[in-house]
Amino acid sequence: MTSYKINKVLIADDIEQECVDVLKQSLPAHDAVIVRSATKITAELVEAGGKGRLRLVGRAGTGVDNIDVPAASKNGVLVMNTPRELSIGALELSASLSRHVAQADASMKAGKWARKDYMGEEVYGRTLAVIGLGRIGREVAVRMQAFGMTVIGYDPVVSKEDAAAINIESLPLEQIWPRADYITVHVPLIPATENLIGDEVISKCKRGVRIINVARGGIVDEAALLTGLEDGRVGGAALDVFLEEPPKDRSLASHARVIATPHLGASTIDAQLRVASEVAENIVALNKGTLLGVL
Ligand code: NAD
Ligand code: MLT
Repeated sequence: MTSYKINKVLIADDIEQECVDVLKQSLPAHDAVIVRSATKITAELVEAGGKGRLRLVGRAGTGVDNIDVPAASKNGVLVMNTPRELSIGALELSASLSRHVAQADASMKAGKWARKDYMGEEVYGRTLAVIGLGRIGREVAVRMQAFGMTVIGYDPVVSKEDAAAINIESLPLEQIWPRADYITVHVPLIPATENLIGDEVISKCKRGVRIINVARGGIVDEAALLTGLEDGRVGGAALDVFLEEPPKDRSLASHARVIATPHLGASTIDAQLRVASEVAENIVALNKGTLLGVL
């Protein structure tokens, strides 16, 4: 492996458009750039950087969909994320869906006492489908089992035996849809997962299924979800991520049976401290030649 010495680091995360010009000018003069998710490291940027000193893009977070990884590799720029950061926060967001906590709180703040409007259901005894049994999917499964849920799931790289070891029944997707009371997706947004949950899938689910997306916008087809919520096939949804962020179309975020948050999954003091140290430790490790986690 080429040896890298990172001395000068640009910490960049701001509104995309304002950032691009600054980055284009600054990247050739820096060895590394650190981003969260707002800054898009495009092919154009890594090319400009690669011609100068840029050797590393550090992503303080999990997904690298804001970085053109193939273009980075082509230009001799390493991309590192912080995979140890489990984003427990992402799963904690979904917990209030079944009891309408957000909506009930909003109604109290609006001066109401609407006990009849917010009859919830117990998650105890119900079936949760976890699509994607990676770092977060597994954590979700284990925690929701503690709430008394039966967990079924699917991940193309996780064997039935490995899933069974954490009490998850691994099933093909076609068998998952009719069994799930709740579906939560924890996959990357890649061509195979784009619109994974669309109109056809929603029609195969139990009427009133609840859908949770704290992974990436676009894994659940937003138009199909809205139709499903309106015709009753979907009983509720919790969304932390959107196809467009912030979403211009607010139909889902403002729907009465949707709990929506502005991509807050990793926005905890704890998670941000973890990613900040991890990205810094990675740069130190790179300088020492002991780096892990390069993409
Ligand atoms: P991970 O890489 O550990 O796990 C993803 C899993 O998805 C892998 O096991 C992979 O095999 C599986 N997978 C891939 N294609 C699949 C398919 N077609 N069907 C089923 N499974 C498939 O990732 P992670 O750390 O668990 O993160 C999961 C998602 O959550 C990512 O999209 C990440 O960007 C997102 N995330 C969001 C937030 C937030 O702020 N809301 C925070 C952290 C992570
Ligand atoms: C991630 O992929 O780490 C999360 O979506 C959080 C973030 O983008 O900062």
